[in-house]
Amino acid sequence: MTILVTGGCGFIGSNFIHEWAALGLERVINLDALTYAGNPQNLSALPLERHELVRGDILDKTLVESLMRERRPSAIVHFAAESHVDRSIHGPAAFVETNVKGTFTLLEAAKGYYSSLEGPEKEAFRFLAVSTDEVYGSLGPQDPPFTEKTPYAPNSPYSASKAAADHLARAYRQTYGLPVLSTNCSNNYGPYQFPEKLVPLLILNALAEKPIPVYGDGLQIRDWLYVSDHCAALRLVLAKGRVGESYNIGGGASLANLDIIRAILSEVDRLAPRADGTARLDLITHVKDRPGHDRRYAVDAGKIRAELGFVPSHSLALGVEKTVKWYLSNQPWVQSVVNLSYRDWLKAQYGEEPSSPSAEPL
Ligand code: NAD
Ligand code: TYD
Repeated sequence: MTILVTGGCGFIGSNFIHEWAALGLERVINLDALTYAGNPQNLSALPLERHELVRGDILDKTLVESLMRERRPSAIVHFAAESHVDRSIHGPAAFVETNVKGTFTLLEAAKGYYSSLEGPEKEAFRFLAVSTDEVYGSLGPQDPPFTEKTPYAPNSPYSASKAAADHLARAYRQTYGLPVLSTNCSNNYGPYQFPEKLVPLLILNALAEKPIPVYGDGLQIRDWLYVSDHCAALRLVLAKGRVGESYNIGGGASLANLDIIRAILSEVDRLAPRADGTARLDLITHVKDRPGHDRRYAVDAGKIRAELGFVPSHSLALGVEKTVKWYLSNQPWVQSVVNLSYRDWLKAQYGEEPSSPSAEPL
């Protein structure tokens, strides 16, 4: 028995596979192109009988079809994506390629594979499309949180490409009867997150005594969920979700960027205090805002709670503690990802040295 995971060497995929293997569930075939965001080291501790990495692109139709035909997965969990909003502003083409065309390629192959299945194998098969709350666009201060019925209104090339992928997944359910389930999750944080995203970037910069770049006024609101809770929700959706449904995942903690930044800085100060004992709040530096920056996301996770009994098990304090501890005790991992292309990215995005994003004042 196997499942096929795409993008399993990235942040959420790595966490998902580790937990899946620890639970003794099906063997995982992990199809990953190993882009800058994919790190095989994340999973190198897993034995081959639990996890096999296939280096390849979800756009490679022949490869994707043969993997399904030969490995006969009971489910496909589709994480592979270009996932960073700022990169999508610099270079949207890769987002259309992987997120839209790649998802299309996977759905086409899954449709063919599904039609070849019979009996209990066919009955059990699931295609889980992992998506984001960003497809719903930006909320005003008084708007109710996103529900599964909120119309899509993506504002960045990233969220537009994820929205397109979600629409395709839905269409394959409606038109071809493919047993698709989809999820829309809020901002994740935790181990193995590539340090282009806010939380790891700020931990690394805080440790290196570098400025912490806050876009605009820093009052944008995100709903933060510890990655392990996202993985638990995905397992529940796979096991018990109603085919054809989408489930919002979130409800962790709604916080303004400045507030999550302060919470994390304070944990870094507690676990790795400065020699003089002062707080690292002085590193906060306001920089030019992101174009089209969504002001507020908030997720109504009532459906997954009511139908599948999902409730996050990590408070923000616990999630932040685990995350900061992980980055402190995994310095070799950090050093391995802080490579030349990462440095190039920081230079392009922040205008200066890697872990020293220069503050472009407002
Ligand atoms: P990530 O950028 O850390 O990892 C993406 C992975 O996909 C990498 O391992 C990369 O090598 C792989 N990949 C990229 N293009 C590929 C291709 N063409 N073929 C095969 N593999 C390819 O992303 P993440 O943060 O782990 O996000 C995983 C999924 O969850 C994405 O679909 C994302 O949209 C969604 N999501 C992320 C968050 C979040 O906060 N990070 C929240 C909600 C949903
Ligand atoms: P990010 O981690 O990129 O996730 P997303 O854009 O998908 O929500 O950013 C989280 C929030 O933090 C978002 O409002 C943008 C902001 N941010 C900064 O203020 N500075 C930064 O250097 C980064 C990377 C993000």
